[in-house]
Amino acid sequence: MSPPPASVTIAPSVLSADFSRLGEELAALAAAGADRVHWDVMDGVFVPNLTIGPPVIAACRPATDLPFEAHLMIVEPDRYVADYVEAGCSTVTVHVEACTHLHRTLSAVREAGARAGVALNPHTPVASIAHVVDLCDLVLVMTVNPGFGGQRYIATMEAKIAEVRALLDAAGSDADLEVDGGISARTIAGAASAGADTFVSGSAVFGHPDGLATAVDELRRAALGS
Ligand code: DX5
Ligand code: ZN
Repeated sequence: MSPPPASVTIAPSVLSADFSRLGEELAALAAAGADRVHWDVMDGVFVPNLTIGPPVIAACRPATDLPFEAHLMIVEPDRYVADYVEAGCSTVTVHVEACTHLHRTLSAVREAGARAGVALNPHTPVASIAHVVDLCDLVLVMTVNPGFGGQRYIATMEAKIAEVRALLDAAGSDADLEVDGGISARTIAGAASAGADTFVSGSAVFGHPDGLATAVDELRRAALGS
């Protein structure tokens, strides 16, 4: 177990937002104190769900100054990395399982001008990224199987979070250690204690009965142990 992080990044997933008024939702997220916007991009092939593409993200870019991160749950992500950077994403995350040439793909993200993120499905071992740590600005440990919001947090992933923390520390990497899936005020402390510092949350933010600001504040406090 790690001590609580000194600071945390809260990155709400707009997968749970009202898609008919995305611009307003983004402005509200900024007002609520969110740090970053997480875009869940699904292609209906890598995951059994279909969401949004670069034109929607580009159209929403003027709605807020918050950084955008794209979580690409798509096959052959190399084909689209530049499009998501052009749409305004300053971080682009690809899945280990979708990349035959992960080293090349992560390099391509940086060459396109974005921070490079790599995501691991629950079954994927940490060793799969051991030789690309120097190319990673963010490592995303999935705490659900990707594809849908509102799933149950897989607590056994905390051992993997701790393993990634150790890998990053040993490499002297300051990459973000992000978790995504089932993150709520109830589950976030476990992920933070295991070493995560960046937290994606969809349904717990947009479904909070007291609104976005309370949701973001509760998450931050719980992660910081305060
Ligand atoms: C799952 C997505 C997550 C998800 C988070 O495939 O990557 O970002 O939308 O939603 P909640 O917080 O509802 O699990
Ligand atoms: Zn996501």
